Amino acid sequence: MAYLLGIDIGTSGTKTILIDETGRVLARATREYPLSTPRPLWSEQNPSDWAEATFATIRAVLNLSQIDPKEVKGVGLSGQMHGAVFLDENHQVLRPAILWNDQRTQAECDWIMETIGREKVVELISNPVLTGFTAGKIVWLRNNEPETFAKVRKVLLPKDYIRLLLTGEFATEVSDASGTALFNVRKRDWAEEMLDGCGIPRDWMPKSYESPEVSGRVTEAASGKSGLPAGTPVVGGGGDQAAGAVGNGIVETGIVSSTVGTSGVVFAFADQPIVDPGLRLHTFCHAVPGKWHLMGVMLSAGGSLQWYRDAFCQPEKTVAAALGRDPYELITAEADAVPVGAEGLMFLPYLTGERTPYPDPHARGVFFGITRRSDRAHFARAILEGVALGLRDSFEIMREMKLPITQVRASGGGARSAVWRQIQADVTGFPHVTINVDEGPALGVALLAGVGAGVYPSVEAACKAVIKVEKQTDPCTINHAAYDRFYAVYRALYAQLKGQFSEIARIVG
Ligand code: XUL
Repeated sequence: MAYLLGIDIGTSGTKTILIDETGRVLARATREYPLSTPRPLWSEQNPSDWAEATFATIRAVLNLSQIDPKEVKGVGLSGQMHGAVFLDENHQVLRPAILWNDQRTQAECDWIMETIGREKVVELISNPVLTGFTAGKIVWLRNNEPETFAKVRKVLLPKDYIRLLLTGEFATEVSDASGTALFNVRKRDWAEEMLDGCGIPRDWMPKSYESPEVSGRVTEAASGKSGLPAGTPVVGGGGDQAAGAVGNGIVETGIVSSTVGTSGVVFAFADQPIVDPGLRLHTFCHAVPGKWHLMGVMLSAGGSLQWYRDAFCQPEKTVAAALGRDPYELITAEADAVPVGAEGLMFLPYLTGERTPYPDPHARGVFFGITRRSDRAHFARAILEGVALGLRDSFEIMREMKLPITQVRASGGGARSAVWRQIQADVTGFPHVTINVDEGPALGVALLAGVGAGVYPSVEAACKAVIKVEKQTDPCTINHAAYDRFYAVYRALYAQLKGQFSEIARIVG
């Protein structure tokens, strides 16, 4: 039996799984780490935390599964996208990594768009330059930390820094590279004119592979730390969204995923690099060789509920601990008891600014429509609904672009709750299905590793061998009609508050 390892370097922690070729999970391990917000709009992490978590979780799954590590035929890497890890000539990390949900780079993004020209940028990278993307972070470093910038010799995405530690190779793959705003998504290679226009040396960027290609092999040093035999192949892998899509079987036209993790992502497969004329959806390379995808990204989806849990739900946490349950189960059960629309209490989930459909770093979370009847359960329901309404924004753009949607696969932590799944189906009007596996990006890259190691003939065949649809949640027509009306109000709220969001940003700096 061939065994495959999938590693996902996420924002809240690193998760590693070991599967056999049928997709059965033999072991999984997770290690969490902190995220720091040294200033408003900033979001940073220490790459050494990812490294410790990666080596610890690999060792843990090898121990738990009791397999002979020589039987591991391949390793796949996935991770939070867009982050910038700056390395010096000795491959040492120069400062904390600047993450995907960091919003400090608006001035740099505007400068890049103006200097290179909007049309040219879209021609080169098929997307606008957004604050979350990597290019602005590199230019920010030049403008704000010139001494550090002077020492930079390489810039890596989070999972690619881990690849360096595992294999000694500077490499990336097309799906994650697409999110740098420096990559020609149509040609599936670095966009020289973008690099030149931004003043970034070409040799700072790693070699790029297709996702299932072998990018390097575990070194002796990494073997000692991980327990994997030296020489084990490590494939390109994928940015967490493309990898998660493989783990959800989003490898053909019409099947769309809706993933509620920290972020909220609606992801559609595409045969061609189609571009949203409004540039609200991203067009990136898929982890399936020669294919692309479109996606809308909300920055605080599950992140909104996590914030609510941590800020306000000590009672639920205490009860959950006593009952051995998850506080989210209690919070969503309370929300379920409140009528559709939370009696007019609405939530705009822009806690860390927003990306789709409004690329606005200054947007903020809002509760609207509080009355004396609003209690904790109303607030919880408003959050679940506000996130679903935000996901609907992406579905509406896909509808507008006439992208076929034949099936929506709900995934991420938000899909585990039957209450939240029903709300998502009711708000969007699409039935939401769940599948037999719930391992997300870690499974996706384990399958990609299987393709690279020759265990499966293609990514599509790997998905077919492992992924099966299980449950379906159908929308309720009456609720959907009600949500249509709330959706109109939700859209209008952002439009009316946009100016005030910017003004508040000016006032508080
Ligand atoms: C995708 C995105 C997030 C991060 C973190 O564009 O920004 O999904 O990858 O999960």
